[in-house]
Amino acid sequence: MTATQVRTSRAGEKLLGRVAFVTGGTRGIGAAICRSLASQGADVAAGYSGNTERAQLFAQEFAAAHPESHMSVHRGDIGSPEDCRRTVQEVIDRHGRLDILVNNAGITADRTVLKMADEDWRRVLDVNLSGAFYLSQAALRHMLERGSGRIVMISSVIGETGGIGQVNYASAKSGLFGLTKTLAREAAMQIQRSGNTNGIGVTVNAVTPGYIATEMLETVPEKVLDGLRAKIPVGRLGEPAEIARVVHFLAADASAYITGQIWAVNGGLDM
Ligand SMILES: NC(=O)c1ccc[n+]([C@@H]2O[C@H](COP(=O)([O-])OP(=O)(O)OC[C@H]3O[C@@H](n4cnc5c(N)ncnc54)[C@H](OP(=O)(O)O)[C@@H]3O)[C@@H](O)[C@H]2O)c1
Repeated sequence: MTATQVRTSRAGEKLLGRVAFVTGGTRGIGAAICRSLASQGADVAAGYSGNTERAQLFAQEFAAAHPESHMSVHRGDIGSPEDCRRTVQEVIDRHGRLDILVNNAGITADRTVLKMADEDWRRVLDVNLSGAFYLSQAALRHMLERGSGRIVMISSVIGETGGIGQVNYASAKSGLFGLTKTLAREAAMQIQRSGNTNGIGVTVNAVTPGYIATEMLETVPEKVLDGLRAKIPVGRLGEPAEIARVVHFLAADASAYITGQIWAVNGGLDM
């Protein structure tokens, strides 16, 4: 066996026996996160909101690529607190446990501040920020009972820099920083209090992708994309898998000492 093969087989067992719920897991960055977690041995539940055709296609492709991983798909609107609680419970009922929650699903409804409709403001906050809160709340309860868990938020570089025409999106994505840090503090405190110190603990972190080649960017005109590429030091858009590898790193038991942090993956955009 070569050194590379040894490394690969070890890496493939990091999440063996773990169950992950990835919202928006049926396409784009979320689908890459599902594949990456499965490649480390995890069983995966992928959430989606309404595109059942894409969810079925994802499930078929995933099953073919990862026959060893038990996977399921769960439909629900994370803009609804009830759907958030129901889908978390569905995952636990289906797989028997929930070790890793990735709050990945997100939407945009871009308008300049002066043109922003009340409904576009509310909807983006409901889905991108409140959804992550309700899902985390439901998952945290279960994780604290078990004494271990990982929560990862997929925020955005726009949460750090703001973005013209994206006041709702930027506000929601930076709101995730406060959510991440507060959850991280409370989770650590509860684990300490319970005395359930198994060395794995419950950690909460956020990842801030830069511009990543997914359907979300399809509405951006090619000329604007060229302008964006010119601003990215590495000179290209990112790939979904480049976000996913940071998520599986954070999800590992061995990442127990990393909590409340924001991980930028953006080709150097914010330097
Ligand atoms: N792409 C980028 O450049 C970029 C950059 C920074 C941050 N991000 C963030 O990364 C995350 C994933 O982005 P992406 O580009 O992969 O997105 P995407 O390709 O548009 O996929 C979105 C996924 O989220 C699901 N979803 C949308 N609204 C939902 C809702 N209300 N309830 C439940 N699920 C919902 C979709 O389900 P359906 O298929 O059913 O619609 C789909 O699975 C988002 O949070 C985004 O803000 C993306």
